Amino acid sequence: MFLRLSKSNYVLSERLKIETGSPEETRRLGERLGRLLKEGDVISLVGELGAGKTTLIQGIAKGLSIQENVTSPSFVLMQEYKGSLPLYHFDLYRIGNEEDIGYEDWLYCHGVSVIEWGEKATEHLPFFHLKIVISYLSQTRRNLLFVPKGKHFLEMTKRLIKEI
Ligand SMILES: Nc1ncnc2c1ncn2[C@@H]1O[C@H](COP(=O)(O)OP(=O)(O)OP(=O)(O)O)[C@@H](O)[C@H]1O
Ligand SMILES: [Mg+2]
Repeated sequence: MFLRLSKSNYVLSERLKIETGSPEETRRLGERLGRLLKEGDVISLVGELGAGKTTLIQGIAKGLSIQENVTSPSFVLMQEYKGSLPLYHFDLYRIGNEEDIGYEDWLYCHGVSVIEWGEKATEHLPFFHLKIVISYLSQTRRNLLFVPKGKHFLEMTKRLIKEI
C-alpha cells in the first residue's frame, strides 16, 4: 500500500492482482464483483483482444441479476441491460482515443458503467473508478490487476479478494 499525491489531495491507492485459470473462473470473479457494485460505479477494463474483458462483464451481469446474455456489442458503442441496477456496457474498440460519445449521459446516471478499452476514455472517466487490467498468461490463464481509485473501490477490491 502506498500514498500518492494527486492533483488536489492524497489518495490511498493500492494495486492488487488475481489470476484465473479458466473463463468460468473469470466469470465467477465478475459475479462476485457485480454483487458488490453500487449505483454510479464505473469500471474501466484494459486488455488486448481476447484478454477476457467481455467474459468478466458476463459475470458482472450475473452478479447484477441480469438474465440476458451479454455479448460484445459489435456495432453499438453502448448496450444497456436491466438488472438489480442498470448495466451500461461500453465497447470502445472502434472509436478513437478520447473521442467524446456523450459519456456523461450514462456515467453519472443511476446504473453501473463497465467500459471495454477504457483507456480510450481516460479524460472522460470520473476520477474515482476501478481500473482492471487483464493480461494473457497462457491459453487458459489470465492475470487481473485491480487498480482502485479512491476508498470505495479500494474497499470493494479488498472485500472481493477476501471472498476468494
Ligand atoms: N482465464 C480466462 N479468463 C477469461 N477468458 C478466458 C480465460 N481462458 C481462456 N479464455 C478465453 O479467452 C477469450 C476471451 O474473450 P473475451 O471476448 O472475453 O475477450 P475480450 O477482452 O472482450 O476481447 P475483445 O477485445 O475482442 O472484446 C474467450 O474465448 C475465453 O473463453
Ligand atoms: Mg470484448
